[in-house]
Amino acid sequence: MKSEPSALSPQPSMKPQYDKPAEMYDGLRLHQNENTAGCSPRVLEALARLTREDVGFYPPYSAVTDACARHLGVAADHVALVNGLDEGIMGAAIAYLRPSAGSGVVPEAIVPEPAFEIFRFDTAVAGGTLVQVMPKPDFTFAIDDVLAAITPATRVVFITNPNNPTGVPVPFEAIRAVAKRVPEEAIVFVDEAYADFAGRSFIPELPAFPNVVVGRTFSKAYGLAALRIGAVVGAPEVIDPIRYVVPVYSVNIAAVVALQAALADVDYVNDYLRQVRESKALLYAACDRLKLTYWPSDANFVLVRIGDRVGAIIEAASARGIFLRNRSNEPGCDGCLRIGTGVVEHTKRGIAVLEEALCAVR
Ligand SMILES: Cc1ncc(COP(=O)(O)O)c(C=O)c1O
Repeated sequence: MKSEPSALSPQPSMKPQYDKPAEMYDGLRLHQNENTAGCSPRVLEALARLTREDVGFYPPYSAVTDACARHLGVAADHVALVNGLDEGIMGAAIAYLRPSAGSGVVPEAIVPEPAFEIFRFDTAVAGGTLVQVMPKPDFTFAIDDVLAAITPATRVVFITNPNNPTGVPVPFEAIRAVAKRVPEEAIVFVDEAYADFAGRSFIPELPAFPNVVVGRTFSKAYGLAALRIGAVVGAPEVIDPIRYVVPVYSVNIAAVVALQAALADVDYVNDYLRQVRESKALLYAACDRLKLTYWPSDANFVLVRIGDRVGAIIEAASARGIFLRNRSNEPGCDGCLRIGTGVVEHTKRGIAVLEEALCAVR
């Protein structure tokens, strides 16, 4: 999808389109924001303890929901576990963006760009209308344009904080302003996939803003991406419609025991968060040295502007076993790639290969 010149670009329901990243496992995966060290060893121990009966029965959810709610500082009825945050986003789209017969309203989803591409896809799948808000050059949140995009048909505003692919944080004041302005039937979906790295969450504000739903994932900081586990958090009346459209047993027993083990290993996640901070400092220094523009990130990745050669650089890095993500087709991201900054050793390899590729593709 190409960047539009105007700040606001409403589009009727489009044909759903999502290009899933190619399956690339034979190199260093710095392209999907995963924890490249993997999960805590305690997760594997918990999986090894599963019995035949555990696998034979439908999974129990009370203990893991309680553990997750405690971790997030909310009551258990404010948490719905989902099969990855992707499922929570699709659930929100189906629950809030599906046109209802006879209402005469086609629900609108506002997506401040550049954004996680799944928002566009899920809006189209649900039959809603996508309203893209184009970015500012520095990627700070375009609050005035987002507020101007709100109409009586707005049903969801998707905000990722910190944003993907930029890593740029969204001020809570902006989220509050949007939540105050949307119609009564609408929700503000705050995707906090990377909030662990920012150390800030909108969750404590939910009692004051009951039309906000927060999405969390355990794929990133906790290294559970392959097990598929996330959560939507909010007042029961706003998350129940999402719960209803998600299959009742969509979270499997491996994810249930893994999440409990992962949440209990605080040292493991804290060490990864420390490495992410160190990795970003290393990458910023490398970009300064190489005279590359980047955006300081609150997440575990950094968006870097390479310019015209971005495709060739990504190919050259891939040939050397390092996978980077081309984001140059995202609005405002011409010539940009995104690089994961997690495990310090991996970041050092990524930087070395990026430098080599820049030299090779002059
Ligand atoms: C902003 C954002 N939301 C949600 C997800 C999906 O998370 P999960 O793996 O829990 O489905 C991602 C994954 O890349 C993401 O970047």
